[in-house]
Amino acid sequence: MSEMMLVLDFGGQSHGQLIVRRVRDLGVYCEILPASVSVSRIQGKAPKGIILAGTGTVAPEVMELGIPSHVAAEPSAFELECLREFLYDTCGCNHTWKMEEYAAETVKELREKIGDKKVLCALSGGVDSTVAAVMIHQAIGSQLTCIFVDHGLLRKNEADDVERMCREEFQMNLIRVDAADRFLDKLAGVDDPERKRKIIGEEFIRVFEDEAKKIGTVDFLVQGTIYPDIIESGTEGSALVKSHHNVGGLPDVVEFEEIIEPLRLLFKDEVRRVGEVLGIAPALVWRQPFPGPGLGVRVIGEITREKLAILREADAIFREEIAKAGLDREIGQYFAILTNLRSVGVKHEVRTYDYTVGLRAVVTNDFMSADFARIPYEVLGQVSNRIVHEVDGVNRVVYDVTPKPPATIEWE
Ligand code: XMP
Repeated sequence: MSEMMLVLDFGGQSHGQLIVRRVRDLGVYCEILPASVSVSRIQGKAPKGIILAGTGTVAPEVMELGIPSHVAAEPSAFELECLREFLYDTCGCNHTWKMEEYAAETVKELREKIGDKKVLCALSGGVDSTVAAVMIHQAIGSQLTCIFVDHGLLRKNEADDVERMCREEFQMNLIRVDAADRFLDKLAGVDDPERKRKIIGEEFIRVFEDEAKKIGTVDFLVQGTIYPDIIESGTEGSALVKSHHNVGGLPDVVEFEEIIEPLRLLFKDEVRRVGEVLGIAPALVWRQPFPGPGLGVRVIGEITREKLAILREADAIFREEIAKAGLDREIGQYFAILTNLRSVGVKHEVRTYDYTVGLRAVVTNDFMSADFARIPYEVLGQVSNRIVHEVDGVNRVVYDVTPKPPATIEWE
């Protein structure tokens, strides 16, 4: 990056990250590091300016570096105009953070780095891995092989849809692996969310290793890890919230020369903008995110085939009704959860003792904070009605009205 700003995070929820977003929105590349970072690391980054975000604590050694600095106790105290002035007047930044240039530069760098070597990409069909794959595909074409793992934790019809999209739309080398049994065997009897995430993440890597062996020599593995994954996994010093699939779940020994993460510096909306720049269809670029561990973190407690089947049907109904109501573009993410709770109900005058389905729908800019979507009661009523009548094993539906924080978007 030709120039960058640095935010030092002194704590206080996600204030630091919000400032990073604002700086980038103003056209200047910006990274966040914990306040405890060494002075030499800061100097190594050669930032044009430093913003000390959080409780307002001032670190004297940072102030003495001769780099313009600004204390922002709260993001609201750092108004847009004030921030713009700091970036462009005080620090002398230029408007250099543009997605067109980032995409072109990254494709060029990837081509140089990869040379004539072979690359394997973990494709989930989600926005991140698709943009990462298309980027690499533009750089090196048929040297790329995409592996799409059906881990048995995908939504209704998803595996077939992803396969069609890759082969027909992008003409990529694609291998689809049906690994549901492998994953579900490993997950049998496990109900702890972090253990589930770790198992799914590790098994993913093992499946790739096995496939890579079949292909022959593979030099690089691509992953669609994005910046919030890195921040939230604690790699950049923040506290561990959840070990995200692509980061925390990695085992120590990975049988690849190197992992390439072309999106590791980008926030979600930046990934979408890069996707558009690369010519990916809007329907795909604007697709709602789906977590790597899939329905594994939406079936609360132990995962079984029976529970997955129930959740798939309920989730499909919810998504169908949201689209029908024309709400799919304005709601950032919406999905069903199968709670581990069973309760008493009555159907056709017979007592039932069935599961409760949770509905989650959030509006958000960056998925780091979110509010629950104000879905009209009529729509919720219709969804609930359809689920309890069309899905066996469910007799109750609840709507999650919690913002993030203090909740997270996913339930596990
Ligand atoms: P949370 O639940 O942490 O989710 O508020 C924030 C966003 O991240 C997605 N998510 C994941 N994405 N691998 C991913 O690629 C994961 O392990 C993972 N866990 C959560 C979640 O769906 C939401 O969009």
